[in-house]
Amino acid sequence: VGQNLVVLKEADSTNNYLKELLSNTKPVADGTVIMAESQYAGRGQQQNKWHSAPGMNLTFSLLLRPSFLPLGQQFYLTQAVSIGVVSALRQATSENVQVKWPNDIYFGDKKLGGILIENIVQGSNIKHSIVGIGLNVNQTDFPPEVPNPTSVKQILHSDHDLHQLLSQICAHIEAWYLKLKAGKWDEIRQAYLNNLYWLNQEREFSSDGVDFTGTITGITEHGFLVVRTESEEKEFNLKQIQFLNK
Ligand code: BTN
Repeated sequence: VGQNLVVLKEADSTNNYLKELLSNTKPVADGTVIMAESQYAGRGQQQNKWHSAPGMNLTFSLLLRPSFLPLGQQFYLTQAVSIGVVSALRQATSENVQVKWPNDIYFGDKKLGGILIENIVQGSNIKHSIVGIGLNVNQTDFPPEVPNPTSVKQILHSDHDLHQLLSQICAHIEAWYLKLKAGKWDEIRQAYLNNLYWLNQEREFSSDGVDFTGTITGITEHGFLVVRTESEEKEFNLKQIQFLNK
């Protein structure tokens, strides 16, 4: 991952750029990374925008081809990539960086980055996975519409070299991707749970406009969040639950 690196001054979204590259006739190698110094139409999950100050942060997309992964198991790819990013950042910062389900990168109660995976499916397998990653690195001022951001610089109080961090992240993602390929699913699942924000803690959530207290007890095989309340244990998808920070 990252052997083949394309650095763009500007792109609408590196995910879009990679998708267009795949629709050209020239083959694109596995592990290709497209990095943009600036994105003017960065996309996040659930139709959100991804804001990132030009030249300050990492915004990149990488190409994986997990054709060995059955469609119903795609959450394992999310877990492997998330753990790759988290472990690289733990190493770079020596801090307790975590993953907030399903794939936000958190430090404390603040968001350090996010991941947007877009799969191109053929039959019942994934043909291409476009793995988009946005990380706040050297930015310290954020526009008010960004909910609760933090950055590597806000954690460490010093600037970080973007290319160095990128290559560390690529190496960690590659290591976890190879575990996925080797079928070490339990190890991936366990590592994901070990780094999961709010696991086994009694917290406030909201679902369908109703607030409730519950405890995250795990994740299902297909990536649903399992939350136990006083009366029951329930599974949620991304649209069905919000985390309420005090
Ligand atoms: C999220 O937290 O909602 C996911 C954010 C993903 C942002 C990255 S930046 C590089 C890649 N290109 C995009 O347009 N989005 C992803």
